Amino acid sequence: MRKTIIAGNWKMNKTNKEAVEMLTELKELVKGVDSVGIVIGAPFTALSDAVKAVEGSNVKIAAENVYPKDSGAYTGEVSPVMLKDLGVEYVILGHSERREYFKESDEFINEKVKAVLAHGMTPILCIGEKLEDREAGRTDEVNKTQIRGGFAGLTGEEAKKIVVAYEPVWAIGTGKTATPEIAQETHKAIRQELTEMFGEEVANEITIQYGGSMKPNNAKELLAQADIDGGLIGGASLKATDFYDIIKAAL
Ligand code: 13P
Repeated sequence: MRKTIIAGNWKMNKTNKEAVEMLTELKELVKGVDSVGIVIGAPFTALSDAVKAVEGSNVKIAAENVYPKDSGAYTGEVSPVMLKDLGVEYVILGHSERREYFKESDEFINEKVKAVLAHGMTPILCIGEKLEDREAGRTDEVNKTQIRGGFAGLTGEEAKKIVVAYEPVWAIGTGKTATPEIAQETHKAIRQELTEMFGEEVANEITIQYGGSMKPNNAKELLAQADIDGGLIGGASLKATDFYDIIKAAL
């Protein structure tokens, strides 16, 4: 069945040197862990050395964004060809910070999903409702729209390759985690939407991570839920020992 994946998202943190130091420590800690996928999302500037630092280990490297063209006149952007060339295996897409600060739409995110798949990397597609959506009873509607948008035009075989990260925006960096029950309920609704789009067999194979103030002290309960297949971790992925404690909670 589906794989549990614990991924870090460093966001705009860590110089190249700090990245290599953390990864060197992490890869020693996680030696021999094979039942859980381990991924670290690093800023573009650290990717090349990050991939080298984890070479031969069970830690994989993610980029935190991509532009959905192979090359061309797109000043300041980074293409999937460039990421693949470095040895990057995952790309975090549609994070709520990109949706909010950089006005990324579901259509644009869908282009990125397709570009990442076309180059043999794994998209980590982030979705999630804002506090005002949850309070207005629109949680499932918002997540459905983001799922429909992100997965638009894909075959079942392609859909299976995507990792979804459900991150309620109100839980990101706030210390407010969704309770395991609330998270499970929402994950179940997301899997239901994927079932409607692609059928049960495909939906059951898609890893759905939870993200939003996941920490060593709450990870176990969240990860014990039937439809929570891992985590996408911000703050607690910056220190190797904290991140390792979350990985241990998934074993
Ligand atoms: P925090 O774990 O810091 O709440 O961040 C979650 C997140 O946004 C991961 O992508």
